Amino acid sequence: MAALGTESVISVHHWNDTLFSFRTTRDQSLRFENGHFVMIGLPVDGKPLLRAYSIVSANHEEYLEFLSIKVQDGPLTSRLQHLKEGDSLFVSRKPVGTLVMHDLNPGKNLYLFGTGTGLAPFMSIIRDPETYELFEKVVLVHCVREVSELAYHDYLTSELPGHEFLAEIIGDKLIYYPTVTREPFRNQGRITTLVETGQLTKDIGLPPLNPETDRAMLCGSPAMLKDLTAMLDTLGFTASPHQGERGDYVIERAFVEQ
Ligand code: A2P
Repeated sequence: MAALGTESVISVHHWNDTLFSFRTTRDQSLRFENGHFVMIGLPVDGKPLLRAYSIVSANHEEYLEFLSIKVQDGPLTSRLQHLKEGDSLFVSRKPVGTLVMHDLNPGKNLYLFGTGTGLAPFMSIIRDPETYELFEKVVLVHCVREVSELAYHDYLTSELPGHEFLAEIIGDKLIYYPTVTREPFRNQGRITTLVETGQLTKDIGLPPLNPETDRAMLCGSPAMLKDLTAMLDTLGFTASPHQGERGDYVIERAFVEQ
């Protein structure tokens, strides 16, 4: 098992009955690439119970932030959801993951496709200044069942555009496209449907997805990943075969079953 550190909870935010996020202190020696995940957990029956969590906060922040579902009988999240300021949390010292920009071929537009808590790694990637050096447009697509699951919606639409140093770097390059499948909302439908029908690119004013110009990162449920990778493959995109080798897209399962 990777060596474990202990961090302390700074704040907790509950988005709704099933979703919350929290900040912890960050050991100064913890280095990570935006898009990486760590193992986090709590002591249960005298030993650490750990699960993988993507880091929401960018690597230039002094704290760590995580987004989690709450499962009432989930071994870890049933406990994690009661975290309070000042509580301790295990955090592994070796961040890892496949959602890293350097595993993508050079391109023009970067599509970040996330469902549910699959948004988490993209929150750090969209706050990485290098993302905007590598790509002309960065399209963050977040698909959830219900409006209340659109974590960070207000941050993305109101706060980030006025951020003291990122606002200038991001400019008009970041396009946030939230979509909801089981309630009325301004954008509706699954990512796969929105790509297949061309509705997504039509709505944001970009040409249809094209492996010549577009790159993608995918994070979500296994079903979404299976269907969306099949679509991308049909369109001529090639997957990064494994970490450290480039492709037109990279994927990671959202870590939700906890
Ligand atoms: P839907 O409401 O039509 O099932 P979940 O909470 O189950 O992980 O789902 C998160 C979002 O991902 C939901 O909006 C859900 O749509 C969507 N989704 C589920 N399965 C797929 C799939 N195979 N392809 C694309 N989107 C999916």
